[in-house]
Amino acid sequence: ESARLVVDNDFEIAPVNNRLFGSFVEHLGRCVYSGIYEPGHPEADDEGFRKDVIDLVRELGVTTIRYPGGNFVSGYRWEDGVGPKTARPRRLDLAWHSTETNQFGLHEMVEWLQAVGGNELMEAVNLGTRGLENALDLLEYANVPNGTELSERRRANGADNPFGIKMWCLGNEMDGPWQTGHKNAEDYGTLAASVAAGMRMIDPDVELVVCGSSHHDMDTFGKWEETVLEKTYENVDFISCHAYYHPESQPDGTRDMASFLASGVDMDSFIKDVAAIIDATKARLKSDHDVFISFDEWNVWYINEEPSKSPEGIGNWPEAPKLLEDVYSVADAVVLGDLLITLLKNADRVHAASLAQLVNVIAPIMTEPGGPAWKQTTFYPFALTAHYAKGGMVLEPKLSSGTYETAKYGTVPSVNSVAVRGSDGSITVFATNRSMDVASDFEIKLPEGCGGVAKAQTLHESDMFAANTRNEQNRVVLHNNESVTLDSMSNTVHVTLPPVSWTAVH
Ligand code: AHR
Repeated sequence: ESARLVVDNDFEIAPVNNRLFGSFVEHLGRCVYSGIYEPGHPEADDEGFRKDVIDLVRELGVTTIRYPGGNFVSGYRWEDGVGPKTARPRRLDLAWHSTETNQFGLHEMVEWLQAVGGNELMEAVNLGTRGLENALDLLEYANVPNGTELSERRRANGADNPFGIKMWCLGNEMDGPWQTGHKNAEDYGTLAASVAAGMRMIDPDVELVVCGSSHHDMDTFGKWEETVLEKTYENVDFISCHAYYHPESQPDGTRDMASFLASGVDMDSFIKDVAAIIDATKARLKSDHDVFISFDEWNVWYINEEPSKSPEGIGNWPEAPKLLEDVYSVADAVVLGDLLITLLKNADRVHAASLAQLVNVIAPIMTEPGGPAWKQTTFYPFALTAHYAKGGMVLEPKLSSGTYETAKYGTVPSVNSVAVRGSDGSITVFATNRSMDVASDFEIKLPEGCGGVAKAQTLHESDMFAANTRNEQNRVVLHNNESVTLDSMSNTVHVTLPPVSWTAVH
């Protein structure tokens, strides 16, 4: 089979917002405790931050970090996590049926981000068990320089300078019946509007994210966005989208890999649907203001399968249990690469995104308590895309490709692709071959005058279920794709995309 992409420097979609390469650290399972924070680990620094994990986080190239949840935030009291560690309370975490020790909180998060390299913090406020007053308190504590009860408390707790947090999530997945303090769209929209207005009275420069739908096929999808945006539009900058994909089990015991590999089709139509609702709201309100999408949870997640089951029982609230520790295959990594291509293709509407999550919990980085840290398969497409796309310009992908049939999405393109022009003028093309059967001879027609050399790296294994584990940490790595050729007379690149593969051609 063959596929063809025409790249033209004049067809610009939008600059790549570096916030597209955000991730997410939730107090969930071992993401924080024995993930990024493990005092006593041989690699821990004086603060208890694992330096081996910090190195991998840097290599991954993530930007903004969303914190502290997730479902967790809907029962969280932020003040439990500040002040002397010995005085911090142990609390029930209802979202994950765990005990939260509060040994890691807002100050530790800010310090950890500094240690990583000055990454941006995207903080979520609790609109589940709490509301306006606590959100305002947290913003005062974090962003007011000094001279008030809460800003002085922050200074007494060791942070002289305000944290200057710009991006704030107005709750998390409030449309989800599983959410502590779940609300209907009317009630949530009214609350979010008052919280947004109040927060702006303290700090007019905050950028606020109102909750959209927890996934595209929520029963309330569409109507939720309409109602919530109608109430909050002028005071928010983003509406969130969340989406997780996994191959569904079929009656014969196999999984529907064909549909799974085309998950990007769903993400693309989700974004387009939400963009349409934003536009309709803007028109109805006769507004000049723009609202963008924050795709602030996305990934492959074998949801409702082990090891995602929460602990149970009134006497059983473990600390940092092993939860959501999915082990990712090559196929999972190809889907993750495809979802990133989809986010880039929509860079005009999606201005922020967070891979959920960062360490141990549905994560590209795994750790063993007291032991090593290693890369999952999904690390590779994320890191290379971030490396080449940050600071670039997305170019409209004029793509033709073969197709294949799926049970969920009908006929879909076998190849998905996007091109990014770097600030140095170089072009990088990201491509997936979703087909399980045939390789694709991929032709890229480059802009006039593109000389130089082409280099291609591919993630592919003959066994699409191959994965990296504690005992075989480098079973799956990127390989140079030796099939790549560049004909500088015709400005054309040819590269073979094996079945179920992800490739970056630079
Ligand atoms: O990322 C895991 C969970 O998925 C988050 O806590 C929640 O927001 C979503 O349902």
